[in-house]
Amino acid sequence: TMLRLSAGGAVAPVLAGRRRAAGVVPAAFSVPMTVPAELRPVRSTRDADHYRLVAAPAWAEILPGVRTPVLAYNGTFPGPTIRARAGRRAVVEYVNRLGEPTTVHLHGGEVWPEDDGGPMDLVAPGTARRYRYPDRQRAATLWYHDHAHHLESEHVYRGLAGTYVLHDRHEAALGLPSGRYDVPIVLKDARFGADGGLVYLPGDFGGRTTILVNGRPQPYFRVAARKYRLRLLNAANMRFFNARLSTGDAFQQIATDRGLLPAPLTTTELPLSPGERADIVVDFSRYEPGTRIVLRNGFSTHPATDAILRFDVCGRVRDGSRVPERLAALPALRPATVTREFRLSMDERTGMGFINGRAFDAARIDFTVARGAAETWRIVNDNQVIEHNFHVHLAGFRVLERNGGPPLPTERGLKDTVMLPPGGSVRIRVSFDPRYRGDYVYHCHVIDHSSMGMMGRFRVAGHR
Ligand code: C2O
Ligand code: CU
Ligand code: CU
Repeated sequence: TMLRLSAGGAVAPVLAGRRRAAGVVPAAFSVPMTVPAELRPVRSTRDADHYRLVAAPAWAEILPGVRTPVLAYNGTFPGPTIRARAGRRAVVEYVNRLGEPTTVHLHGGEVWPEDDGGPMDLVAPGTARRYRYPDRQRAATLWYHDHAHHLESEHVYRGLAGTYVLHDRHEAALGLPSGRYDVPIVLKDARFGADGGLVYLPGDFGGRTTILVNGRPQPYFRVAARKYRLRLLNAANMRFFNARLSTGDAFQQIATDRGLLPAPLTTTELPLSPGERADIVVDFSRYEPGTRIVLRNGFSTHPATDAILRFDVCGRVRDGSRVPERLAALPALRPATVTREFRLSMDERTGMGFINGRAFDAARIDFTVARGAAETWRIVNDNQVIEHNFHVHLAGFRVLERNGGPPLPTERGLKDTVMLPPGGSVRIRVSFDPRYRGDYVYHCHVIDHSSMGMMGRFRVAGHR
């Protein structure tokens, strides 16, 4: 993409000459971005909030004037945002009206195995299931999504995902942008057929050339000339994003997957593989009203997928928010008692995925972790052209090393998902909360890969 200065002094990519499937996908920046609805509790008690989500086929207007069949939570694409408070439990009742089995996993949530929505713990069609989320962890941008083994890839693709924002008192006292200036940005990609339907083909990375933000194709977002907190969630099945502003200007990263950084990081780019989250603050008061700034994907190799979203800066407003120099100290890195290695590979011919040479087997426990342990894991992508990443349920981790050197500046906080470019490796320190025991999974979060076997199970064992 070429960059060119417009009359107003803003920089916008030139997006002429793009090819679009079937003419149903509009030109970039022709539809407004929407913010997913917030889910209200159906009831609240002294220490818990109860929510209800119904998973069912629905119609969504993703492309203007076109009704697209989707799978939705409470009829919306993506699902509604849950805003939970640390220290209060959330009890979410999921009703399955999909006509197929489902599970719902709270990605990033520290929960008991029976509430984890693991791949084999299915909720049968026509039934409901209550998941209990203790929410005894720090404020973070989490997300909930389908995890039914072999179905999760298509289910998530068709819409079964939503943001779960956990707030806490410490964060609230910092004065960060909040309320309508705290906005979830759910990134996905899709392939549309001539009829406006979502086309799902396993491993169809190259065909999914329409970038969706909160369920709209490359929308524009009218912002006030002030600071915004944007909660970026990569909910795409396979696509990696590297968020950049078309002006080349820096923004501040304030959080990784599992919560606030010790201090804001000023950066011009922010890579996110599927499942990863990052909260950023962009200060639009730097720009004259009328300026248009595009959030671009620096990893894009195709002009159609280069632009993500356009910010249209409108009027100036009073901004009482701030980004303090100190956000939240990270918990001390605990020494590891065990070292493990995980080698991810995909057979390019069959599309089968493996970890340490084995495909997922629901009857097999791959290893056992002592309750409350800290361990060092080395993870290697053995493919030379295929991108992978790695996600572990329950535990958060820190990235110690990438390719034998320091981690990326943008991954120096608490994480639960880490990217693994072809041939790449990372070392991470995984830290288990002694409150939880039982069986959980770990997997590549390129969901088309985990569906094809790139997943394993582990057990957290030990007595009180
Ligand atoms: Cu985002 Cu095992 O999941
Ligand atoms: Cu998870
Ligand atoms: Cu993978």
